[in-house]
Amino acid sequence: MTETLLKAKNLCKHFGALQVCRNFNLQIERGELHALIGPNGAGKTTALDLLTGLLAPDSGTLLLNGRDITKTSVNKRARLGLARAFQVTSLFNSFSVLDNLMLAVQAQQGTGTHFWSRAAHDRKLVASATSFVERMGLLDRATVLAGNLSHGERRQLEMGMALATKPAMLLLDEPMAGLGPGGTLKLSELISSLKGEVTILMVEHDTHAVFALADRISVLVQGEVVATDTPKMIKENKLVQAAYLGGAK
Ligand SMILES: Nc1ncnc2c1ncn2[C@@H]1O[C@H](COP(=O)(O)OP(=O)(O)OP(=O)(O)O)[C@@H](O)[C@H]1O
Ligand SMILES: [Mg+2]
Repeated sequence: MTETLLKAKNLCKHFGALQVCRNFNLQIERGELHALIGPNGAGKTTALDLLTGLLAPDSGTLLLNGRDITKTSVNKRARLGLARAFQVTSLFNSFSVLDNLMLAVQAQQGTGTHFWSRAAHDRKLVASATSFVERMGLLDRATVLAGNLSHGERRQLEMGMALATKPAMLLLDEPMAGLGPGGTLKLSELISSLKGEVTILMVEHDTHAVFALADRISVLVQGEVVATDTPKMIKENKLVQAAYLGGAK
C-alpha cells in the first residue's frame, strides 16, 4: 500500500507579470523515485524552491506527512526531513571527504560544536561517516580534500552529505548536469542504489537517466503538471509527446 509523503495542492507563484507555477499539483509516495521533467523555463526549479521553502507560494497548500508546512521555514522543513542536495555551500573544500561526512553526521546528531576535540576520538562517528564514504563510492578518495575532487566526485560527496542528515525525502535539481557519460553512469548507479530507502524527487533533463531510474514521472509545462504516470505510460502519452518529448520514442 502506498503512503503519501509530500502533497502539493494548487501551488501558484508569479514573478512580476510571469506566472511561473499555476496550480502546481504533485503527490509523492513514500519510497518512490519521482522525476519532474519539462522544457527549459517550465518552472521546475521554482517548484523545488516552493517545496523546500526557499520561495513562498502566492497560494496553495503543501503537506508533508499530512502536516501543513506551507508556511514552515526552510530550516524547519529540513529538520522535518526535506533535504536538498547540490547546494553550493554544502561542501567544505579544505576538509577531506571523510571529514566532510563526519561534519554532516555530527550535524545530524546535533553535536555540531567542538568538532575536532570530539570527532577525532569518536569511533562511532568515524564508522558512520566511513559507511557513507563507502556507499557514495569514494572509499579510495576518503583522505582527498573536497576542493580537489572531480566534478562527478563532488556530486557523489554532496549526495552523501545530504543523506547523512537522514532525510525523509531528497530533492535533486539536475544531478547529472555537467557530468560526462562516466560521471552520469556512476551517479545513476548511486541514485538507483538509494531507491526504496529514501524518497527522491529528481528534476533532470537527461531523459535516458530519468526513464531508467524513475518509478513515476510528472511532466511540467508552463508551470502546470500536465501528466503524472509510470515511465512507460509517459512515453506513450500523446499530450506529453507533443508538449515535451517532441515525438521521441
Ligand atoms: N527570481 C526570479 N525572478 C523572476 N523570474 C524568475 C525568477 N526565477 C525564475 N524566473 C523565471 O521563471 C521561469 C521558470 O524558471 P525555472 O528556473 O523555475 O525553470 P526551470 O524549469 O527550472 O528551467 P531549466 O530547465 O532551464 O532549469 C523562467 O522564465 C525564469 O526566467
Ligand atoms: Mg531549473
